[in-house]
Amino acid sequence: MATDARYEDRPWTDPDAEPFIKVQGVTKRFGPFTAVDNVDLNIYNGELFSLLGGSGCGKTTLLRMLAGFETPTEGSIFIDGINMNDVPPYERPVNMMFQSYALFPHMTVERNVAYGLERDRVAKNEIADRVAEMLAMVELSPFAKRKPHQLSGGQRQRVALARALVKRPKVLLLDEPLGALDKRLREQTQFELMKIQDQLGVTFVVVTHDQEEAMTLSTRIAVMDTGKFVQIGTPTEIYEYPETRFVANFIGSANMFVGRVTEDSADHVVVHAKDHGADFYIDHGLTVKEGSEVWVAVRPEKIVLSKTPASEPGPNQLSGTVNEIGYLGNTSTYRIELPDGKIVDVTSPNQVRPKSGRHAVDWEDEVYLSWEPSSAVVLTK
Ligand SMILES: Nc1ncnc2c1ncn2[C@@H]1O[C@H](COP(=O)(O)OP(=O)(O)O)[C@@H](O)[C@H]1O
Ligand SMILES: [Mg+2]
Repeated sequence: MATDARYEDRPWTDPDAEPFIKVQGVTKRFGPFTAVDNVDLNIYNGELFSLLGGSGCGKTTLLRMLAGFETPTEGSIFIDGINMNDVPPYERPVNMMFQSYALFPHMTVERNVAYGLERDRVAKNEIADRVAEMLAMVELSPFAKRKPHQLSGGQRQRVALARALVKRPKVLLLDEPLGALDKRLREQTQFELMKIQDQLGVTFVVVTHDQEEAMTLSTRIAVMDTGKFVQIGTPTEIYEYPETRFVANFIGSANMFVGRVTEDSADHVVVHAKDHGADFYIDHGLTVKEGSEVWVAVRPEKIVLSKTPASEPGPNQLSGTVNEIGYLGNTSTYRIELPDGKIVDVTSPNQVRPKSGRHAVDWEDEVYLSWEPSSAVVLTK
């Protein structure tokens, strides 16, 4: 799970810090269709910022506006203090790594990386030095003379990265950079990306639809839905304190219980869920009217599963029957059916190896669920 340790000084919490990229009231329309809808965004120097959302929500369009390949219909983009509205792509301090990072197939790795510098008429010996330095950084020096088809997918991805970074952009824009890689390689490459970004101190803006990838990589994430930002925050903030049901469901999985607020004070809320005949006690305040309909979201790994009931009845307790068990090696996921038919997912670590396929909690068992007051969040929309 993300630790948010990537950024010690957290410039976004400092009102005096100057953002490196400022997106102000930007809208992009294609004819009658609004792809990006009046978004505001500040990205700070050295961040690895992710735009996360489902297909078609406007991520690529926003990235292309940062690069200068699309012009905002409304609003402005500032990079390093300069309004980019009239600055063409090649004059912006940014470089973009495309979704399909097409390398030149007939050129060696080295020439692929050198190409942009040659076009900019950089001196020959400087090109050689910078290409060698970049290939060392992405650990491809031994492959300098190979052609792209002699490389694995992960190696090709690193050539594309070297090619984009060799021009020393202040901002690197990456559109689904790891999309073409299989899961194992993707995870490995994520760490390489983070390492390189850290070494160079370049600001990365990454588009991804993969929430795990965004959680692993990012200093902060903007979750997008139909052209708008629904929440911007660190991976931990987004995961632990989702502000809407959309975010709670999109990032990880969440059990959602509908109920009405019966008590609302500064430091806690009580929600009565009529459907389940249960009360939920959550240790954060809320500003809604008593009686309002709300949703209580609880992550599967925050629920404690037991074969014996709690010593005394209280809030945050449910009981049900084990409907299904998914053994995932390090954890198991249990699907518990409540008496009213609702399914609740619970994830527990597997500390003891199951003896001959028998689990401590088994199919059809009657089980008791509970969680801490700090383990749930109340959502109003
Ligand atoms: N050039 C264009 N002309 C018309 N519609 C476009 C164009 N580019 C993107 N769109 C539409 O804008 C929406 C957002 O696209 P895009 O930014 O590529 O989404 P994402 O990258 O989040 O999958 C989509 O509905 C897409 O069809
Ligand atoms: Mg896209």
